[in-house]
Amino acid sequence: MSVRFRVPPISSSEITPESVYLRRREIMKAFAALSVPLVAGVSPAAQAGISTGGKPLEYVPASQGTQGFYTDERLTPREDAASYNNFFEFGTGKSDPANYAGAMSTDPWTVEVDGEVDRPGKLHLEDILGRYPLEERIYRLRCVERWSMVIPWVGFPLASLLQDFQPTSRAKFVAFETLYRRSEMPGTRSFTSTLEWPYVEGLRIDEATHPLAFLAVGNYGKTLPNQHGAPIRLVVPWKYGYKSIKSIVRISLVEKQPPTAWNKSQPREYGFYSNVNPQVDHPRWSQQYERRLPGSLFEPREIPTLMFNGYEEQVASLYTGMDLRKYH
Ligand code: MTE
Repeated sequence: MSVRFRVPPISSSEITPESVYLRRREIMKAFAALSVPLVAGVSPAAQAGISTGGKPLEYVPASQGTQGFYTDERLTPREDAASYNNFFEFGTGKSDPANYAGAMSTDPWTVEVDGEVDRPGKLHLEDILGRYPLEERIYRLRCVERWSMVIPWVGFPLASLLQDFQPTSRAKFVAFETLYRRSEMPGTRSFTSTLEWPYVEGLRIDEATHPLAFLAVGNYGKTLPNQHGAPIRLVVPWKYGYKSIKSIVRISLVEKQPPTAWNKSQPREYGFYSNVNPQVDHPRWSQQYERRLPGSLFEPREIPTLMFNGYEEQVASLYTGMDLRKYH
């Protein structure tokens, strides 16, 4: 397991004392509004995770040279990325998340970690932000529907969080669950959606602890907009976008391969692994090309899709010996 730092273990009974929690909530107010920037640290030495005194959060900006954590491809403009989304809890249209996800309340927010761990427990969002130093990653995200974006995410490796809960030797997979709140999510009340709620996803433990697997709390240097999966979402850049589950409330370490939302809904079309693979067609379309957003009629920006979305060098070894057509 690759992690960058160690923090004291979390006891199973850990609940943040009220006074500390309230103080942190004040600090968080500086972070809560969309317009509040995360403050980029000047150098790795300056990273503070969360600063005291009500200042916004700091993060280490993405820099060239780190394998897979950076690309100099043209960034998708923030407004384009935030207005063309998939978040089916708010509807099936690309603009539904931008139009309706604002109704989702993200404060307070708790992530529960349970299952095959020695120290199950809950983390308030404030605890998460205080505990894990934040960094920026510029990742390509490729949707199964053949559009792709390049987005600067702010967050921390999923491995760091998993390690704190001390997975047991029986933990072979990691299951994720999104918030399910019907009153705030019009898509979950619709009879036309084929998805079951809550939205669930899963990774094998070695995938989940790979350094590229990232939990994002911000993007473009700011708090994550709700349509992108606020306040905390997964980003797995070598897999089709639907594996990058949004607005996570539960992470369970499990022994058996967990169900996933799209596989349950359309098992013929969506497998568990869902690695980006231009050689394996979707049953209804080819996966050889993608449209890099924003495209236009005059500049469609159609580009070939790369194996593992261009992260082959980093992740191919996870799948040595596997038939990637069978395990798609
Ligand atoms: N997570 C939840 N909870 N619900 C969803 O509908 N859609 C997935 C994924 N995560 C989805 C989700 C799909 S299909 C894609 S392509 C990406 O989110 C899109 O992420 P973005 O809108 O932030 O670009």
